[in-house]
Amino acid sequence: MANKKFFLLSGERSTLPQAELRAIVETYDDKAKFEIINERVMIVDGRFDLKTVLKRSAYANAGGNLLTHCKIEDAEKSIETIAFDEFMEDSVSFAAYIFNLSDQHLSEKMESIIGSAVKKRLPNAKVSLRNPQKIVIGIIFDDHLLLGFTDYMAKRIWKLRRPRARPFFHPSALYPKFARGLVNLSHVKEGDLLLDPFCGTGSVLIEASIIGINTIGIDVSMKMCRGSMDNLKHYMLESLGVINSDALMLPIKNVDAIVTDVPYGRCASSRGIKTMNLLQDFVLQADAIMPKGRYCIIVHPNTIELNNLDTFEVKERHEVYVHRSLTRAITVLRKR
Ligand SMILES: C[S@@+](CC[C@H](N)C(=O)[O-])C[C@H]1O[C@@H](n2cnc3c(N)ncnc32)[C@H](O)[C@@H]1O
Repeated sequence: MANKKFFLLSGERSTLPQAELRAIVETYDDKAKFEIINERVMIVDGRFDLKTVLKRSAYANAGGNLLTHCKIEDAEKSIETIAFDEFMEDSVSFAAYIFNLSDQHLSEKMESIIGSAVKKRLPNAKVSLRNPQKIVIGIIFDDHLLLGFTDYMAKRIWKLRRPRARPFFHPSALYPKFARGLVNLSHVKEGDLLLDPFCGTGSVLIEASIIGINTIGIDVSMKMCRGSMDNLKHYMLESLGVINSDALMLPIKNVDAIVTDVPYGRCASSRGIKTMNLLQDFVLQADAIMPKGRYCIIVHPNTIELNNLDTFEVKERHEVYVHRSLTRAITVLRKR
């Protein structure tokens, strides 16, 4: 189990949570192996820092370094054999959290078994639900238990950055959780340079900046450029530049990733150019400024297919229902 970690994904009924986790892990270890247990649970065997992945993820609700994967009926025996003293100090404060995806009422029983097993190995360990140094974390699904430990529980407050909470609002703005997921799909690492060439109110720039990515935004509308900058400033973030320019005449030579949400409908003016034509021309531009192997994530209406893709491989396509007349497609391109 040395490098095995497990993750609990949010139940979005979409392919995005699994794809996002895969992309973040591959960013740090491209040889990691993935085992899909079910729609919400994944085991990953790889060399990466659990906390880094959990901190930047939009859709992984929790995770742990794997200690045991057993049947519920064997759980007590299995937990008793865990050497908690190998990764916890005797005076540690700890908590046990169980996420129960089954319909059996087992959480309390499991938490109490874990508490007793830890105390047996570490008599001076103290339970602290408020501020534990170590967390023993379990997921119950069907008749199975996955148990592990972590020192980080995700606490994300997306609502602080929802479009209406920002100083500059426009109805085309993306929700922060979705924007973070897009950034993560692009396989960017801390210090890389990400471009959003249709940046609007700056949702992608904000989420990328928070996780340590350098950003550049472009928008053909001066009002949007100013709004993006105001929004970044509001969260005490900075972009390397928000440039008032046409994305079809990119004033940039080299970027590590492109993440963008192209204009469509009345909300996001594309200055009379059809989204389809804009996209086709843009993909040619993107090709010129990206090194091989890098990712370009494009959000567009699902009624449109991307063409002109000779130098890009279409790695994935996801769909997210927004309302009756809009389902968003997310196309993940990788430069060949
Ligand atoms: C769908 S909105 C982007 C919304 C953004 N993701 C957000 O969360 O606020 C598309 C943006 O593309 C801009 N735009 C339209 N045509 C453009 C072009 N040719 N070059 C650059 N930006 C353009 C629009 O002004 C609009 O702000």
